[in-house]
This record gives sequence, C-alpha cells and structure tokens, in this order.
Amino acid sequence: MKPNYPEIFRPLRFANGLTIDNRLAMAPMTTWSANPDASISEQELAYYRRRVKGIGLVITGCSHVCPEGIGFDAEFAAWDDRFLPSLRRLAQAAKSGGAPAVLQIFHAGSKAIVEQTPSGEIVSASAVRAPAGPFNSGIPTPAHCLKRRSSKRLRHSPKPPDEPSRRVSTAWSYMVLMVF
Ligand SMILES: Cc1cc2nc3c(=O)[nH]c(=O)nc-3n(C[C@H](O)[C@H](O)[C@H](O)COP(=O)(O)O)c2cc1C
Repeated sequence: MKPNYPEIFRPLRFANGLTIDNRLAMAPMTTWSANPDASISEQELAYYRRRVKGIGLVITGCSHVCPEGIGFDAEFAAWDDRFLPSLRRLAQAAKSGGAPAVLQIFHAGSKAIVEQTPSGEIVSASAVRAPAGPFNSGIPTPAHCLKRRSSKRLRHSPKPPDEPSRRVSTAWSYMVLMVF
C-alpha cells in the first residue's frame, strides 16, 4: 500500500546529528500515576512499553524539576539524584521500541500546587498571581524567583527588576535527551 504522506515515514536528521527513523513522535502526556515517593510506577512503565514501537521519537510526560514547581499530582520527579534509578527505568521503557527518547522537564511557576510544596511557598518568573485553573487554586501569589534568596540554586542569580514591567511566563518546560 502506498502511504498518502510518505514524508512522515522518512528519517529525519537533527542539527546535532541525531537521526530518527521516521517523523512520528509520541506526544508528552502526564499520567498522574507516579508512586507516592515520586518515582515512576510499574503502571506507567507498562504504558510506555505499549506505545513506543514503530515511532521515531518518544517524549515523556513532564517531570518536576523542583518541589516548589509541582504542577500535577502524582507525576514522577527529577529534582534529586535519588530519582536516578527511577529515571533510568523510565529511559529503558521509553527507548524499548528502538527510538530515542527525551525527558520533558517542567516547572509550574505561578501555577504550582501550593499544597504539594514542602515549604508552602511557590516561585515564578514574576511575582504575579495566576488565575485559578484546573490544577491550581490561584493562591498564593508566587515569590519572584530572583528575589527568593533562600534558595541555594538562585543565590547567584542577577538582581531582579524592582518593578517587573510585564508578566513573564508562568510555567517552564524543556526537553532533555535521555542518554542513561
Ligand atoms: C492527558 C494529557 C496529558 C498531557 N500531558 C502533557 C505533558 O506532560 N506535557 C506537554 O507538553 N503536553 C502534555 N499534553 C499535551 C499533549 O502532548 C498534546 O500536545 C495535546 O494533547 C494536543 O494534541 P491532540 O490535539 O492530539 O490532543 C497532555 C495532553 C493530555 C490529553
């Protein structure tokens, strides 16, 4: 059978040299199914193994990069070395179909769930309250991430603007190629 869109089934080479077999990608999807300690569950590993055959690229559901930025309940975490065994198991399952996989890392910013935050404080690019949404209550107003000097990781950040002239992005999401 001749496919209508042959281009989809041709390999694609990225600028960094990575080549994928075809242009079909598994979209990132949060499944709310991590273990209580934020490691990946057997259920979610099975979910990946079932879906990764025959596609060119796998993108995982988002993984939280810091406890102040949790945007979804029961999502597997990536903010500490103790999660490496969990992430390694995810990488093996995500790559079990032969395609490379990327880990989507995520910080919910002003839309973080304050009840999930150990310090009870959320941080964002701007100290502006997000409206309540399907996952967040809209309370409290986040601390400006550059003004929050208590965080070691932010201590050497540049001086924040006194009056941010406009609101900047409330949630960050990046992709990291899974090599482990
Ligand atoms: C249940 C569910 C979970 C999702 N989780 C994520 C996620 O973790 N990260 C992300 O960037 N997009 C996420 N998305 C968005 C999807 O990757 C996709 O972009 C979106 O569903 C649009 O595609 P569609 O029109 O085929 O549904 C999610 C979507 C759904 C329905």
